[in-house]
Amino acid sequence: MSTEPGAVRALCARVLEGNWREGYMPDGFHFGYTSPSPHHYPWQWYWDSCFAAIAWRHFDPARSRRELESLLAASTEGFIGHTIFWNLPLRGPRRFTYNVTSPQARMTSSIQPPLLAWAWSLAVGDPAAEPEIVRHHNWLEQNRDLDGDGLLWIVQPDESGLDASPQFDPIWRLRAHSLPGFLLLVRRNRRLGYDLRRIAAAGGPVVCDVLTNVLYSLARSALGRGSLTESLITRCYDERTGLFQSLVRPTLRSRIPVTWTALAPLALPDLPEEIGRRLVEEHLLDPGRFWLPAGVPSVAADEPSFQRGDRGLLGLHRYWRGPVWINAVWMIWLGLKRLGYDEQAADLAARTLRNVSRSGLREYYDPLDASGMGQEDFAWSTLVLEML
Ligand code: GLC
Repeated sequence: MSTEPGAVRALCARVLEGNWREGYMPDGFHFGYTSPSPHHYPWQWYWDSCFAAIAWRHFDPARSRRELESLLAASTEGFIGHTIFWNLPLRGPRRFTYNVTSPQARMTSSIQPPLLAWAWSLAVGDPAAEPEIVRHHNWLEQNRDLDGDGLLWIVQPDESGLDASPQFDPIWRLRAHSLPGFLLLVRRNRRLGYDLRRIAAAGGPVVCDVLTNVLYSLARSALGRGSLTESLITRCYDERTGLFQSLVRPTLRSRIPVTWTALAPLALPDLPEEIGRRLVEEHLLDPGRFWLPAGVPSVAADEPSFQRGDRGLLGLHRYWRGPVWINAVWMIWLGLKRLGYDEQAADLAARTLRNVSRSGLREYYDPLDASGMGQEDFAWSTLVLEML
């Protein structure tokens, strides 16, 4: 395929359209959403849906609205799960690993980064005018803000959207995502109802994750509730290294590997300029760590845990251990633009466009040779449109 933007735009339109799912529920509700990929991911995933809604605005803003309205329609007193099953009940081995408290659950009892209000503001309108979005934020404040400073805490690695990221290895160890002990973690959290305070009281671990809070801060600002940038700096910014790092309870003694989320606060429009410049100049633009041929890898290339591919135990996919993901690249690109690194932003956009032209809209890409990996026709990779 050519790197001509028109060709990439047409590909994005085809994939969004092809992944669109709609239907009726027994109560007559007409849902509509973009499945992350046509085969492997049939349901509505919270953050995938928000990214898809942002991409849909380039073609059909009415779909952005329907996508997010469907997410909101799943809300139960403000809680919206990580995955909503609609008319395709959870079956097969996924019943054991998904965060559901009963086999008939309509959605998981776990969350994903809550960026809905931000996506709404970009693609639909004013989120503050939507009572269900307000209720969603009330739920998050009441249930996931452990210390009352606005920052949210998560109870499992997959709640961050970054399932098997090595940043979680020292925290969950053998219970990390797609390792055998993960089943025990799910079993324990099911028993505790995915209730943050009960899980923290039972010894945790619980994590105040940087990426989750960056996206939540963008959502809060969109809603007029005040950004969390200051709290993130106070609690998660390490002046010595110039990087952001998640908080863990109980406190961790081992070092957390450096991943792209240490740079994710670049997406915050109110990040102080001197912090942003340090993130870019001391870390992002380092060709041995984050500035790789196919874009920004999900793990710094000099980390011992960095891997180009996605294979783990028994050939299972282990996500976010090095490959390039387009949603992450877009968030970093937002920061480059805002801080005036126009040349580097254009370069990153051009490399992303090249990845897509060469390998299609894949789930993620080899950070060195840009070959596509994971699923094909992956919906949020259409975020490349934001950078054209
Ligand atoms: C993988 C990703 C997660 C995503 C899901 C659906 O589990 O790690 O971020 O939401 O797939 O695409």
